[in-house]
Amino acid sequence: MKVHRIAVLAGDGIGPEIMQEALKVLRVVEAHDRARFELIEAPFGAQAYFDHGHPFPETTRAACDAADAIIKGPVGLSYEATRQIPVDLQPERGAVLPLRARYNTYANFRPVVLPRALAQFSPLRPEIIGEGIDILLIRELVGGLYFGAKTLGTDAQGHRYVEETLRYDEVQIKQVLKKALAMAQRRKGVLHNIHKSNVLKSSVLWNEILEEMAPDYPEVEIVHMLVDAAATHLCLNPRQFDVMVMENMFGDILSDQGGGIIGSLGLMPSACLGDDKAYYEPAHGSAPDIAGRNIANPYSMIGSAAMMLEYSFGMVAEARQIWAAMQGVFADGFSTPDLAQLGGAAETISTQDFGDRVAAKLREAL
Ligand code: IPM
Ligand code: MG
Repeated sequence: MKVHRIAVLAGDGIGPEIMQEALKVLRVVEAHDRARFELIEAPFGAQAYFDHGHPFPETTRAACDAADAIIKGPVGLSYEATRQIPVDLQPERGAVLPLRARYNTYANFRPVVLPRALAQFSPLRPEIIGEGIDILLIRELVGGLYFGAKTLGTDAQGHRYVEETLRYDEVQIKQVLKKALAMAQRRKGVLHNIHKSNVLKSSVLWNEILEEMAPDYPEVEIVHMLVDAAATHLCLNPRQFDVMVMENMFGDILSDQGGGIIGSLGLMPSACLGDDKAYYEPAHGSAPDIAGRNIANPYSMIGSAAMMLEYSFGMVAEARQIWAAMQGVFADGFSTPDLAQLGGAAETISTQDFGDRVAAKLREAL
């Protein structure tokens, strides 16, 4: 049987507890002889800095290098704890961005999915949600402002200034657009290209390259939309979107809005795909305020595991069954407190209970 080696970076805050539930689900898949998973747990994040002197220690890098795929929890501790860490070694700059750069995970798939049955979790009105929301937001993940040169200084008048560079080259733009066009082709044949070409030259080049590539995908209709307008449309008419593609910073912001329209960032898993390696992580933070209380929603972490099965191991059927099992727990009237507050009718269950119920449903389905 195929053995998949997975580096497991539980991270900070709620990371370890939601990771436990994702691993629980992977063990069910294993128990049904669908594959074998060799799990290599490794420190990553703010706690890793305090324990090992670096948020992405050398041993963790080696574990990731050796792995077929990486699954990662959220990182970051409280504001006070983070202030104890030198700025460049704080977990976002010192660990997350280096992880993305190391494996050139340029395409970040962030599904924004709300089946009609879960419409009560959304702050949007039922008529806006209609038959449900099912968007694949694709965010470029290794370019733009996040990775451009940064300078801090003081000008001739003695005023402090900062300069951050938004740089993209055509290789970077093409590789993510290729993934987006392919996904649009595979799904509904519509690609919303989110840009700001009325102001940013980076968007002008981005759109130019997309126009050059478009003839190779005659079945894909391309809709260009300014990023500010897209923010409004996501609230007013999210069902017009199927696949959306955008540069790094736009994607950071709009994907959190995606979590907002479906009711919680806890419902936002993601896949960070490169050509040689991929890693999988929830799109949200480590919620240190609720860590260790067994109340965090593990959906995004379990969903990230499902995406790993699909995109790294080609286990599409198993991934679908995990999604269905999670929806099933909600459909039975249970949810973690983040959603129960919104959804009114749902009975509140713990992080572990959610994972147990997903595992039980999956056992039946496999
Ligand atoms: C995300 C997060 C990260 C980002 C942070 C943790 C660096 O907000 O994945 O959306 O800004 O990309
Ligand atoms: Mg973000």
